[in-house]
Amino acid sequence: MTIILYQDKFLPREQGQVDMEDRGYQFGDGIYEAIRVYGGKMFLLDLHMKRLERSARELRLKLPYSLEHLTDNLNQLIRQNQINEGLVYFQITRGAAHRQHLFPDHIESVLTGSAVSLPREETLRPNGIKVSLVDDIRWLRCDIKTLNLLGNVLARQEAHEKGSEEAILHRGATVTEGSSCNVFIVQNGQLVTHPADHFILNGITRLHVIDLAGKLNIPVEERTFSTDELYHADEVFITSTGAEVKPVVQIDERVIASGKPGSITQKLMNAFDEEVARIKAAALY
Ligand code: PDD
Repeated sequence: MTIILYQDKFLPREQGQVDMEDRGYQFGDGIYEAIRVYGGKMFLLDLHMKRLERSARELRLKLPYSLEHLTDNLNQLIRQNQINEGLVYFQITRGAAHRQHLFPDHIESVLTGSAVSLPREETLRPNGIKVSLVDDIRWLRCDIKTLNLLGNVLARQEAHEKGSEEAILHRGATVTEGSSCNVFIVQNGQLVTHPADHFILNGITRLHVIDLAGKLNIPVEERTFSTDELYHADEVFITSTGAEVKPVVQIDERVIASGKPGSITQKLMNAFDEEVARIKAAALY
């Protein structure tokens, strides 16, 4: 039986219900996090929780529980659903009230969460993927992890209809990020990725890959890059909680470099694999 988290309670999935006037439903007025689970443990948890706090602060949304309490509940959710390799998703909306744009008085945030199994072998794509370049039509606060994802949803759908697995977004000539991932290119042995400003979500995997690159002595430059640089990159890859490090070998009709994942992308994928293996081995004791 699937168990979900509703506020502070653990319920069978069928019993999970939210109010029809919840502002998450009416306005997309809420925030979320998606956290990977390896060996039954949440990966890079602190960074996710810091980002959650920041998203809440930026939207002036009150977190209903302390981060410690929330962490305890999410761990319990993982245990109750017996998740070893998976994904925890939770969202917090501003709450339910009669519809009005202004923040209602005396409103209580509403938290819902789930934990599902997601074996790595189902998500890894060692041979790389095809993506499509899609216009970035989103608002100007893409740094906040909000429930408002229509621009992302439309972009992913457009990419899918073009036979691609992901959309890479661009504002004019500048590449921003993916519909649900960050984008890196490799140029002359160096990683280049869009700076963490209002135009992108500062992905936790992005941060982690920048960190891994440092350990592997791979230089990283956080600067904007153009669609032309993307097409002519030595390597392209995307990062996200679900995708980890995923090579991109084709963008619409254009093949990137040799059409195979590049050596730096491989190094980062290997480093990621080793790390997950260590976590899983440690979880056995
Ligand atoms: N997406 N950019 C966007 C727009 C995203 O939605 C995501 C994550 C990322 C990567 O962030 P992270 O490395 O923290 O997962 C970048 C999640 C997984 C989702 O919406 O399902």
